[in-house]
Amino acid sequence: MTYLLALDQGTSSSRAIVFDAQGRIVAMAQREFRQIYPQPGWVEHDADEIWETQLAVAREVLSKASLKAADVKALGITNQRETTLVWNRRTGRPIHHAIVWQDRRAEPRCAELREQGHGARIQEKTGLVVDAYFSGTKLQWILDHVSGAREQAERGELAFGTIDSWLIWKLTNGEVHVTDVSNASRTMLFNVRENRWDEELLALLRIPASMLPEVKPSAHAFGQAAPEHLGGALVIGGIGGDQQSALFGQACFEAGMAKNTYGTGCFMLMHTGTRFQTSANGLITTSAAQIDATPRYALEGSVFIGGAVVQWLRDGLNAIKASGEVQGLAESVPDAGGVMFVPAFTGLGAPYWDAEARGAIVGLTRGSTVAHIARAALESIAFQSAALLQAMSRDAVAAGGAPVSELRVDGGACVNDLLMQFQADLLGIPVVRPKVIETTALGAAYLAGLTAGVYGNLDDIGRNWQAERVFRPTMSRDRAEALMANWERAVRQASAR
Ligand code: G3P
Repeated sequence: MTYLLALDQGTSSSRAIVFDAQGRIVAMAQREFRQIYPQPGWVEHDADEIWETQLAVAREVLSKASLKAADVKALGITNQRETTLVWNRRTGRPIHHAIVWQDRRAEPRCAELREQGHGARIQEKTGLVVDAYFSGTKLQWILDHVSGAREQAERGELAFGTIDSWLIWKLTNGEVHVTDVSNASRTMLFNVRENRWDEELLALLRIPASMLPEVKPSAHAFGQAAPEHLGGALVIGGIGGDQQSALFGQACFEAGMAKNTYGTGCFMLMHTGTRFQTSANGLITTSAAQIDATPRYALEGSVFIGGAVVQWLRDGLNAIKASGEVQGLAESVPDAGGVMFVPAFTGLGAPYWDAEARGAIVGLTRGSTVAHIARAALESIAFQSAALLQAMSRDAVAAGGAPVSELRVDGGACVNDLLMQFQADLLGIPVVRPKVIETTALGAAYLAGLTAGVYGNLDDIGRNWQAERVFRPTMSRDRAEALMANWERAVRQASAR
């Protein structure tokens, strides 16, 4: 048998999964770690805890699968993106906690960059909008605020990395300092058209180039995990930022193919092939996983509050005791009874980009019950995702392509049949749930498998992908369009504009 090991370093937990060559799960292990909130709006991780939990689950999963390192062909890494870490090259010690992608502390610097008129140039080079989400201004914050950091960086003593770089540094005992294009494209320092760090942006954010990892394609022999970590040496053959890795794991390799991951938030990506395309509809452009030197791109949009709305029903409204109860409560009514729930708890992302918007429940009548609110909360995940997909389809058509014709889904909440059916109804296209919904980790395993020769090409991987269930639209287009119009009206009510 052929086995591949994927390390999936996410925002709230470190996971490890062993797959066989057909992409089936053999064993899985997971550990949570601390979220550190030093101030409102700030989120940090302890990089040592990330490493320790990741190593522990990697060992655990091998033992669960009764495998030794020598039985595994290659290792792939996928990770929370944008999260920013700086460490000392000599001691290997981080000089500050990792600043997590959700952290907003760099917003004042971003506002300054926007006011100085750098937005268009940055978007043209990186595909990104200027936002504190991305790594560049987080890295600048560390250099500006940690005592002595800038001087050390200028002397070449410090290394910057996203979490993939950190894990590889640790796995190779400090021998390898690398990242892949899909992670580099989230730093706001990387020129995605030319696949290289951008000197002009480095100068703008005052980042010494000596800190940066070397950037490689996502399928590449990055190095070898030293034998003491996993009980034997193991080739590190793949890296992918988690959303691009999921796109790869969903076998979305061609322009126009799209996936949506339903987690705490939702991340929708549409492959655009080898074409760099900026969005006219509020999406960002990002590098997709690359298996060779040719740049490949995707359009991306995210929903900030996806599954998190169910947590709010549980913890904020006390409407349910456990998240799993939401489907039953929502199904106890035939529809939301005209109630619309806009969960803009932290503003609204693409395609609205309204940071000041706040949550709203509208359309309440004397007949409204908590079941209608629960149903509307669940439906809000589908409404927000539908707005993203419409934006993507508009961009695809503007570029001479076809609208998206099918949506592949994954992530925890995609097991909710009610939600998936409503999603298909709103979109008017099939929503397809694959047999393996751990597509993030699977993407990393596939990238590693390509490097190790387990797969000869993308077709070999594509053949593994199998639908578990297809949700076909059953609602009339008139009704779906009326619902979308109601949603947009509710969004306007939640808006601060
Ligand atoms: O861009 C942030 C994303 O990569 C985080 O994903 O799944 O760790 O919340 P997740």
